[in-house]
Parts: sequence; structure tokens; C-alpha cells
Amino acid sequence: MFNMANKKDKRELTDVLLSAQKLYKPSKEFQKNTNFPDYEKTLKTAAKNPLKFWEEAAEKLSWFQKWDQVLDDKNKPFYKWFVNGKCNLAYNALDRHIENNPKMHNKKAIIWEDETGRVRKFTYLELYKEVNKLVNAMKNSGVERGDRVAIYMPNIPEIVFAMLACAKIGAMHSVVYAGFSAKALADRIEDAQAKILFTADGSFRRGKIIDLKTIADDAVKQAKSVKKVIVVKNNNAKVNFNKKVDIWYNDFVKGFSDVAHCAEMDSEDPAFVLYTSGTTSKPKGVIHVHGGYAVNVLQTMEYVWDVKGDEIFWCTADPGWITGHSYIIYGPLLAGITTVMYEGMPDMPKPDRIWKVVEKHKVNVLYTAPTLIRAMMKYGAKWPQAHKMPTLRLLGSVGEPINPEAWKWYYKYVGKSKCPIMDTWWQTETGANMLTPLPSAPLKAGSACKPFPGIIADVVDKKGKSVPVGKGGYLIIRNQWPGMIRTIFNNPERYIKTYWSQVKGSYFAGDVAFKDKDGYFWIQGRTDDVLKVAGHRIGTAEVESSFVSHKAVVEAGVVGVPDPIKGEVIKAFIILTAKTKPSDELKMELKKHVRKEIGPVAVIKDIEFVEKLPKTRSGKIMRRVLKAKELGLPLGDTSSLV
Ligand code: WTA
Repeated sequence: MFNMANKKDKRELTDVLLSAQKLYKPSKEFQKNTNFPDYEKTLKTAAKNPLKFWEEAAEKLSWFQKWDQVLDDKNKPFYKWFVNGKCNLAYNALDRHIENNPKMHNKKAIIWEDETGRVRKFTYLELYKEVNKLVNAMKNSGVERGDRVAIYMPNIPEIVFAMLACAKIGAMHSVVYAGFSAKALADRIEDAQAKILFTADGSFRRGKIIDLKTIADDAVKQAKSVKKVIVVKNNNAKVNFNKKVDIWYNDFVKGFSDVAHCAEMDSEDPAFVLYTSGTTSKPKGVIHVHGGYAVNVLQTMEYVWDVKGDEIFWCTADPGWITGHSYIIYGPLLAGITTVMYEGMPDMPKPDRIWKVVEKHKVNVLYTAPTLIRAMMKYGAKWPQAHKMPTLRLLGSVGEPINPEAWKWYYKYVGKSKCPIMDTWWQTETGANMLTPLPSAPLKAGSACKPFPGIIADVVDKKGKSVPVGKGGYLIIRNQWPGMIRTIFNNPERYIKTYWSQVKGSYFAGDVAFKDKDGYFWIQGRTDDVLKVAGHRIGTAEVESSFVSHKAVVEAGVVGVPDPIKGEVIKAFIILTAKTKPSDELKMELKKHVRKEIGPVAVIKDIEFVEKLPKTRSGKIMRRVLKAKELGLPLGDTSSLV
């Protein structure tokens, strides 16, 4: 049954209950000026008729042809939204602003800054032209509707050009986070059979250049589907250049027209694939579509982020994760506002860089992760206190549970006790914010509040029965929403098995949570096979399989253990081959090995050499038991333990 043994490492119940008593309400003035001042009424209206709510949302976008049905649920769980509608994600994010509103031409779409202080800005018209040139260049290189394009780039404007150009052609982008290794990139390219790859010479991190091109080169050696590599000159770094496949971005687009055709896509045509970690060592290619995804993301911009048309929005995620896709790129552009991109570390050259960027670019909405807030807390409140940040009106948190202490610090020192915090729970698979307050809602420090309008969420036991208030259980979504995952690329069986087979008729999120007496959700973390290290999603099985690929390792069990800043860090239990002697040098070597196999994103905090691992009768490693032992907690139900 559901195991609460790990409660302590996720969140102290007493802590939560204490913080659940205090409500943080927006000021009357603030509330009156939000898009939806009556929180409860907004939820009730949508709940009465969610399909109507979503249909009205769809009407805010431009369609080449209107849908004839909002939701088709005949072939469960392969749901279709806005059936027979024709549209395009990039058209809605960009072209329609240019075609419908001359005022949008000179409005800033992107403000970019990097660690070294370089700034580049693009108006909507400039962005439109850049994208069009790239569309024409890509088509000339044989990229067609339905093809896959891999993108392995830093957080720079060209990643936006590339993603939008793919969508405009009707090709699917597959963005791979630049903290992944050559092997991880190659696996993802192979799975998607991507024809071309976008990368850059490098990216600045803490004053050093990360050599992305060499990693991309290694990946391309393994992944044969790639015929061309387009390289952005970002750092003027010296890189290897293979003239047969490599071309500089500027040369690639040179001479192409800045007017381009936009593909009329079906609402349900895939717009992109984004690989994410799950229970097995093979990442899942999550598919999102042109219609429903755009509708859902835009709706959250208006409801959660309270966008009215002129905001400057800064989401500090990386474009390689879903948060970057939906809230650096598509959300702000669909809403026609300005997105801020920052390439670099948040504490460079000093711990007030974030607050400086907010002030300099007049940011109105700051959307970040608990791990960053905790890192800033460590430097001390004096850094945000030294900055008034008068333009800030709304804050956001995402990626992992935010502890009440970090929440309060964020609220007080960053938001100056006047900016509500939107703690948004959602996933790569959900496409957009799912459990979240709206700016008019009374908040509780550390709770993701209630489901977004039109969404029905619940906490249940293994049989799918709602559990009582205050009791932990599995988080599920009982109905459908337009931004939902449509399938796993080339693996519909896995889609059914992972999300729709645990609780009949409901989406199984893989998180544990409980609800309090006011219906507020408190997320406790993942069920035990996915890790969240500094908000980055990594599969335990992926890490284990990379350990096992080392010749000295027979078996590996990996768990997440709590960390005051990163939320969770990785601890590995390793069984060595009979002839291998355990040593500290070997630990170092194994850590390096995993870093090479998966990438710097997989930092191993600790390794312990063991004789055996706890297993079920069927041979599955019981990570839950490893973790409970590590943390000195009760083992919970061990009836299946051999
Ligand atoms: C976790 C990120 C608590 C959760 C958007 C989920 C959160 C996983 C929150 C998805 C939050 C995300 N509070 N936990 N506000 N937001 N999570 O796919 O465990 O990278 O299942 O998507 O992050 O991670 P992913």
C-alpha cells in the first residue's frame, strides 16, 4: 500500500499544518486589478462546464479552420481536442501578432542577457523575420512537415528561432537540455530519428565556456540520422568544424527571404517531442500538439500569470525543460508579451544578479524554482533587500515542493510582502500549470493550492478511492485537459501503461500528495522512481543503468536523499564485481563515469559499496527500503521483500 515512510524527508507534517493555518491574501487593490478577482467564482464557473471553459479559451487563438468538436474521448486514452481544427503553434505565437496588429511590430518579444552582460533584444517583427529566414533555410535543406529536428543549445535567442521555425514548418522539435551528455543526446536523437541538429559553439557558465560543440560532435558520431549540424556562434570559441555536416547558423540562413509559408496543421498534429525521465532507463518522448497545447498554455498566462498584454515575464528555467518550453517561449509569445532570457549563473558576478536583472529589465513576473530561492537564501536577505524591484507584481515557483521557510523568504524579501506567489504543480506531460493558485486566491506557504479552472484533481489510494483529508495518497487527474500529453513517441503502449493503467479512467501523475480541510493540495514528491535534483527531472533507472555500464559494477540502486538547497541529491548503493576492491578513487571514477554517461545534470553526492541490495521476489530493487534505511526511518510495508 501507499507508503508514508518517506514523509520526513519530503516535508514535516507539523510544519505543513502550522503553515496551513495562515492565509496570505492579496491586497484589495491588487485583487481588484487581477483578471479574475473572484477566485472561488472563477473555479466554480469553469467546473460547471469545463468543455465550455476550454472552448472559450480556444476562441482566443487564430484558427485556419474551426474545430467541430471540443473533445473526442471515444478512443481512450487517446483523447483528441478541437477535432478537425486547423492551426499552427508558431502562427499563434508570432504570425498572428504581426498580421493582426501593427502595434505589435515594434514591441519587444525577447530581451536576452548573458552572464558577461551582453544584451540582445528582438521586437516581434525582428523575431518574425528571423524565424522566416530559418524556415526557408531549413526547407531548402530538406526539412519537411512531420520531420524531427534536434536542438541542443544554451538559453539564447536562436533557440527560440529554431523552435518556432520547426513549428511553422510543421516539423517537430526535440530540445535536449544542454546539461545532458553526448550519449544522452545521441539516444534522444536516435529515438526521434532527427534529421538535423542545432547547437552552439559554447555557453558561458561561471565565467567558463562549456564546449557544447564537442559534445554535439560526439553525439552525431553515434546518431546516424543527423545529416546537418547548424552551429550558432555564441562565444567565438574555437571549435572543431567538419565542413561536410557543420554549418554556421549565419551562413545557413544567409540570403533567405524573411517571408515564409506557415503550414496549416491539424489541431492534433504533434508540435514537439520532449524527452523526460520515468521508471525505466529509456526516457519517454512526450508528445504535445499544435492545438490543445497552445490553448492551454495561453489560458494559464491569462489566469495564473494575470497577463493583460504588456508584461515583462521572466521564467528562469532552461528551454530544455517543459517549463522553458511553456513559460520562456510559447506562453509569453502566445500572449504577445515580452520574455526575458538569461544565460548564466544566478550569482554571477555577485549574489544579486537575479535582482539586478529584474530591476534592469523591469520584470513584472518572476517565475523560478525553490532550489534557486534556497540558494539565494543562503547568501542572505541583504541582497534582495538592496533592490526595490518596483515593477515586480507576481512571483512563481515550480519544479519541486517549496518548503514554507523558502516560500516566506521569497514572499518577504523578493516580493516585499505584496507579490502573491503562484506555486504551480505540473509536469512535462501536463504541458501547462495544473495545481496552482490564481493571483486573487488566498495563499498558504508551501501549498500548490487548488486545481486550475476546469481541472479535477484528487488524492486516492491504490484502488482509486479518495483518501480522507490530511491523508497521503496518489495524485490523479480525473478529467482531461487540452495541454495533456497525447502519447509517447513510437510507444503508445507505454503511454497507456504509465499514465492510464493505475487508476481506471484517470491520469496517474506519479506524485504523492494530500489535501487539507480547505481543499488545498500539498505535494510531497514523486513516488520512488523519479528524482528531482535542483528541480531537474532524472530517472533512478537511468542513473542505475549508467553505473552498471561501468566494468567494475554488478548492480546499482539509486535513491534521492534530502538536500537543503537542491531539494534532493543522488545517493548510490553499488555492488562491485568480486575482483574489484572498493576505494575512494573508484568512487571518484564512478562519479565521473555517470557524469559522462548522463551529463553534468546527474551529480552523484555519495556512493556506498554494499554486498547486496534489498529486492522483491521478482528481482526489483526496493529503493524505498534503501531510502528509509539511509534516512533512519521505518521501513514501511516489507511483505514483498526477499
Ligand atoms: C515536481 C516540471 C511540488 C513533481 C514542470 C512533478 C512539483 C515533477 C511542483 C514534474 C510544485 C513540479 N510542487 N512538486 N510546484 N512542480 N513538481 O516533468 O514531482 O520536469 O511530478 O515538470 O516535478 O517534473 P517535470
